[in-house]
This record gives sequence, structure tokens and C-alpha cells, in this order.
Amino acid sequence: MSSVQSNTSSNIPFEVFADAEAASAALARVMCERINANAATGKQTVLGLATGSTPIKLYQNLIRLCKNGAVSFKDVTTFNLDEYLGLAGDHPRSYRRFMDENFFDHIDIDKARTHVPSGLVSKEEAAAQCAEYEEQILRAGGLHMQVLGIGRNGHIGFNEPGSRADSRTRLLELNGITRADAANDFGGLENVPTHAITMGIATILQAKEIFLLAWGKGKSEIIAKALSTAPTSDIPATFLRSHPNVRAYIDEAAASVLQAPVRP
Ligand code: F6R
Repeated sequence: MSSVQSNTSSNIPFEVFADAEAASAALARVMCERINANAATGKQTVLGLATGSTPIKLYQNLIRLCKNGAVSFKDVTTFNLDEYLGLAGDHPRSYRRFMDENFFDHIDIDKARTHVPSGLVSKEEAAAQCAEYEEQILRAGGLHMQVLGIGRNGHIGFNEPGSRADSRTRLLELNGITRADAANDFGGLENVPTHAITMGIATILQAKEIFLLAWGKGKSEIIAKALSTAPTSDIPATFLRSHPNVRAYIDEAAASVLQAPVRP
């Protein structure tokens, strides 16, 4: 069971679920409804997708719904948020590989319609590739739904603290917290790429609907700040407040600071 909170300390509506599985199952159903409604009127759906541990259960639920015949991804186009600079698509830690293994290889999507920024561009070529990525999103008709996780430093995509509200898809240097959090996956901090390509804040905010996901105690401090702080570059997720159709899906552990009783 979930409870919808309209908390005065938060301008971003949020829903708290018992655990990540319950939240992911609920969001998967919402996304399928939207995809099916578009398909019923002959429209395609354009999804903005995230990687990392947070959306894995969402993808598992979507895969299950697809296999059950409850939804088809034949008319779905996707754009991922980000990719590490220097990693080829088949690198075990690349976000392209992550998406293929955790989602695309298990659904009926046309792989040609799945987009992840290429990590194999030189710093000089990056600006042109990023501009083209923005163009591709526009040509597809814009993002209908954007799925977001949140970094412990408040990043969305790889929009690290310091990112501006008007930022677009670009190459940037990864923050120390982000690289430290990825160190285990890469077998040591020294192996973690120093740069990445990311959709910008303004790119994300152009999505018609945004879902911000956070699970576990480790996200409790940052999600409380993200939902209750006035928009600031120090915590890029706070820029989501200006969006008219954003909702946070949170589990009880991540909601523990947000819902803590205020001491007199
Ligand atoms: C991933 C991404 C990041 C992650 C964030 C949380 O594509 O854009 O913003 O969503 O770093 O990562 P996890 O889910 O691994 O805690």
C-alpha cells in the first residue's frame, strides 16, 4: 500500500511505498497505461530513461508486463540520460550495455529506436554530438516521460552540483562523490571515468511528465533536501520543482528523513 503525501515541506508531490518493489510495480503500471493510451490513438511514446541500481526493478516489472502482453514497446522510442566518456557501448560498465542487458534485450523494442549518448567521442567532438542528441529528441517529438534516480549529491542524470537550470546535453567533469560511488563497480576509483555526457537540466525539464525515484536509507538525506529546498544549482534535483508534472516515488527507508517529526 502506498500513501500519497501532500506535505507542506515539499513542493514536489511524492508517494511513499513499503519498498522499492512496490513503488517500481506501481510506476511500471502507470507507464504502461500511458504507452497503451498513446498506442490506442496511433501515437508513439518517447521515454527518457536512467541507469544505475534505482530503475532495475522498474525495468524488471516492465519486462514482465511486456512478456504478459500487457504492453508492447514496438511504438516506443527511448533516450537515455547519460554515458561515461571513453567507454564503448560493449564495455561492461557502459550505460548502453546496462540498458541492453537490463531492459532492451528482454522487450519487443526496435533497438534502432533506443538512444544512449556515445561515450566514444573526443572532447572536441562532444559538443556536436550533444547538439545532435537534443535534435534527435526534438525530432522524435520530445520526451513524454522521464525516469530519474538521484545521486547522493543531488545530481539528476550527471548534472552535478553547479549545473544550471538552462543547461543542455553536454560533456562535463564528474563530481568526487559520483566517482567514489562508482568506484566499486569499476574496481577502484582510478578506473572510474573522469567525464561523462549528460542530458541537461533544461532537456530533462522539457519532458511532459517526470518520475523521480529514490530507495533506501542512503538516499534519505538527499531526497529530503531535494524535495524541500528552493531551486538551487547546489542540489540540481531541486530544479524539478519548476516542472508542472513531476512526482517522486520513494520507499519508506528513503522517506525516513522527509517524514521525521519536526522537533519543537
Ligand atoms: C544514471 C543517472 C544517475 C543515477 C544516480 C543514482 O543514468 O543518471 O543520476 O540515477 O546516480 O544512481 P543509483 O540508482 O545507482 O543510486
